[in-house]
Amino acid sequence: MKVTVVGAGNVGATCANVLAQREIANQIVLVDIKEGIAEGKALDIWQTAPINLYDSRTVGSTNDYAKTADSDVVVITSGLPRKPGMSRDDLIATNAGIVKSVTENIVKYSPNAIIIVVSNPLDVMTYCAYLAAKTDPNKVFGMAGILDTARYRAFLAEALDCSPKDIQAVLMGGHGDTMVPLPRYTTVGGIPVTELIDAERLDAIVDRTKKGGAELVNLMGTSAWYAPGAAAAQMVEAIVRDQKRIFPVCAWLTGQYGLNNVYVGVPVKLGKNGIEQIIELQLNAEEKALLNASAGAVKELMDVLDNMNATA
Ligand code: NAI
Ligand code: 2OP
Repeated sequence: MKVTVVGAGNVGATCANVLAQREIANQIVLVDIKEGIAEGKALDIWQTAPINLYDSRTVGSTNDYAKTADSDVVVITSGLPRKPGMSRDDLIATNAGIVKSVTENIVKYSPNAIIIVVSNPLDVMTYCAYLAAKTDPNKVFGMAGILDTARYRAFLAEALDCSPKDIQAVLMGGHGDTMVPLPRYTTVGGIPVTELIDAERLDAIVDRTKKGGAELVNLMGTSAWYAPGAAAAQMVEAIVRDQKRIFPVCAWLTGQYGLNNVYVGVPVKLGKNGIEQIIELQLNAEEKALLNASAGAVKELMDVLDNMNATA
């Protein structure tokens, strides 16, 4: 299996490293626009193989997409973080330009690749890649839900002093502070979480989860990479090993949950064909209202991109 990761920055290099260490793909190509950075990081990762005893081969490329030819899966992490003075619309314009050109290069050399978008603003960049790829939306989707759920599960494990392995949870909506963690669908070793923690502490954890990305930006001055890189690698693994795993993924909705033509986080089954099923939960009225509000916020950003494309 061949996997390309575009963007050899913090998230992309971490993702490539996890893919290699866990032998998720035997060929891993790291691409970046900055001269030498992808080659250097790929070489550094490859030199851990004799130490960590694996044989996945990682190579780098400065913007030469011929090296990515016939990739089975491509992870797009290229993009700028929001800088002081930059408006939300400026960020969409800048990163959409990057994601569009990267996607066009990818499909030129790997027309059948499954594309996982990580670049922010996540939901709208996934839409941007879908427009550029001109392919089945079940093969173009975004990573956010695994990361946001992992944060929620980690906070719960800490509060309950239990193993994060035993916490199962699902979270829906856009990748932002309108995301919708679902305590009703959260269990700890099969026990509903509401039987183990009081409502006030659970509310505080839900709130911290929604602000989980900002908490790390405030601590580090840039956004997170270990958990995002590992989350993207977990999606790649589900696809290349045809695991049929159930994850929250930013997916194109065509009527599910009463939502149409919007990319938003929902539980899906991931396997060798990409998104093989979108799972429709029986949300209650409150959960449904929160999901609708989150999808509305995403749609506003998608409209910004559509308006930019219309006037381009
Ligand atoms: P970074 O700045 O460390 O790396 C980005 C890399 O993209 C840089 O090496 C840059 O040279 C490269 N790049 C820029 N334009 C390019 C192009 N046209 N072609 C190829 N490479 C190009 O940033 P980091 O921390 O790795 O984050 C990457 C993206 O992922 C950001 O948009 C960030 O906001 C997003 N992110 C999304 C998360 C999610 O849950 N979906 C979580 C964490 C980050
Ligand atoms: C994160 O959630 C900022 O999307 C980035 O860490």
